Amino acid sequence: MSAFTEERVLSVHHWTDRLFTFTTTRDPALRFSNGHFTMIGLRVNEKPLLRAYSIVSANYEEHLEFLSIKVPEGPLTSRLQHIQVGDTVIVGKKPTGTLLIDYLLPGKRLYLLSTGTGLAPFMSVIRDPDTYEKFEQVILVHGVRQVDELAYHDLMVDHLPQHEFLGEMVRQKLLYYPTVTREPYKNMGRVTDLIENGKLFADLELPPLDRVHDRVMICGSPAMLNDLKHMLEKRGFNEGNTTTPGDFVIERAFAEK
Ligand code: A2P
Repeated sequence: MSAFTEERVLSVHHWTDRLFTFTTTRDPALRFSNGHFTMIGLRVNEKPLLRAYSIVSANYEEHLEFLSIKVPEGPLTSRLQHIQVGDTVIVGKKPTGTLLIDYLLPGKRLYLLSTGTGLAPFMSVIRDPDTYEKFEQVILVHGVRQVDELAYHDLMVDHLPQHEFLGEMVRQKLLYYPTVTREPYKNMGRVTDLIENGKLFADLELPPLDRVHDRVMICGSPAMLNDLKHMLEKRGFNEGNTTTPGDFVIERAFAEK
């Protein structure tokens, strides 16, 4: 039996010349948890060429959605960036990953810290009603270089708060904090610096990070993961994994594509 299914591209949206989103059909048998990633890709010379992608769409949605960078020399994304509606992509049947609320100990606030395409898994986490049942507040931070890389900004600001089923929970509990490092914007600076200098908490009117109440998920570049992991460990947070829940969990945004 094959390890993947063939799915049809339903829509493609290019955010910038470095970043795009696409949706596909979903095999009704595909099961995953919000926050999971799976292998996806294209057939190149008959052979599957696959990379890990976090699933942007929530697990109750009929279609699948992915967020991708475009690497000009990247074996997969140099091709994938040209996909059109109706094309076929292959999708792994076994989603997995550590960015699941199940792998966190109970807490009061959930911080979702992301840079670049590291936002992707959190798009499904923030559309999971369980997330709002488990936490009093959910703080989504997305750090990018340029304003136009703030993918899903309008969804977060305009659409999710009005969502038929999630709207009320989102309005009450979700705080969205987009931040930009290489051009002027209302929030500026790296996620790491905003935590160290306390600006993130001051802007959101929240107390500083605290292991007793706060839980954290991190997804971004290896350098970002490393810096945040050390910052949290210095503050006494313990890392969780798929077998032992902890105060924080991490996953790299799979960038080498
Ligand atoms: P900067 O512009 O200062 O490099 P990229 O597109 O390279 O993945 O970067 C996405 C965002 O992540 C940028 O705003 C970048 O800031 C930021 N960034 C890069 N390295 C780190 C790090 N070690 N910790 C926190 N943020 C980082």
